[in-house]
Amino acid sequence: MTHSTPTASSPSAPEDGARTGRPDRNLALELVRATEAAAIRAVPFIGKGDKIAVDGAAVDAMRAFLSTVSFDGVVVIGEGEKDEAPMLFNGERVGNGQGPACDVAVDPVDGTSMAAAGRQNALSVIAVADRGAMLDASSVFYMDKLVTGPEGRGVVDIRKPVGENIRALAAALGKRPEEVVVAILDRPRHEGIVREIREAGAGTRLLLDGDVAGGINAARSGTRIDMCVGIGGSPEGVTTACAVKALGGFMQGVLAPKDDAERDRGLAAGLLMDHVYDADDLVKGEDAFFVATGVTDGGLLDGVRYGDGVIRTESIVLRTQSGTVRRVVAEHLASKWL
Ligand code: FBP
Repeated sequence: MTHSTPTASSPSAPEDGARTGRPDRNLALELVRATEAAAIRAVPFIGKGDKIAVDGAAVDAMRAFLSTVSFDGVVVIGEGEKDEAPMLFNGERVGNGQGPACDVAVDPVDGTSMAAAGRQNALSVIAVADRGAMLDASSVFYMDKLVTGPEGRGVVDIRKPVGENIRALAAALGKRPEEVVVAILDRPRHEGIVREIREAGAGTRLLLDGDVAGGINAARSGTRIDMCVGIGGSPEGVTTACAVKALGGFMQGVLAPKDDAERDRGLAAGLLMDHVYDADDLVKGEDAFFVATGVTDGGLLDGVRYGDGVIRTESIVLRTQSGTVRRVVAEHLASKWL
């Protein structure tokens, strides 16, 4: 998305409503309080080996803070069904019921197992779009995904072998295939594709968990990740699409049902199998917001830090309409969180 540079005669920056000519609201700047709260409340459970406790603390905090935000949200993508974790469930109303009608995707902790184990890269995530804009993929848990920066558009295709995509993306980036880095969840199901990536000469970044951060890092320029591929959660696919759209990146997703029964449930819910969804199919329109706060340290964001009576959080706040990327570092007085 491109916008002309604001001048004295056109003082409105895109963020200030260039389309409407009047200042408008960046909902994500309010939603970030909810991901900050979820991340802070998850901290006592980091490294304690109990992922349900991590998720439970984060869910409760996120729900409480969401109730203070002026919007009429419905959770379309709730986290937790996959492993029966505590969840903000699909269909739950969130927000104070006033203001814009929105679809909401929540992942109070993406990477609960990592947080419970005390590992890196756990994030708290919320994505919001207009009501009806998000694909409800909840009946099929897994999605095959391909994410790159803008250079991948018209260059890579999820239907092609990964080696071919690596060579094409390398050419578009002006790199050698050997310099391309591909993020992928470290799972037995990916052994074949990891081999193909390395046979193409590229390097892998194996993710223990958390392909939302992997996708965002692939979509952003100036990171060490050029492409994120492989099968991860469908909910994470939709939240990733919100971020990819705001970052101007490229994404494709194909639902990956585990068995025929799940495939049939997906078809009955109106989902398309063997169909390539792009970011605009996963999240329609230009009014989408994405916020994430680091729970544990990672390549995208620092995790929650305690010290000198202060809790420090780092978040990323993205808005599709303006293409704005903000990093929000907040210091919270620890005594207020006892
Ligand atoms: P949660 O911690 O939110 O359950 O998800 C972590 C995650 O790694 C996602 O980032 C990813 O999309 C999905 O799980 C992959 O699922 P699986 O662990 O079953 O391969």
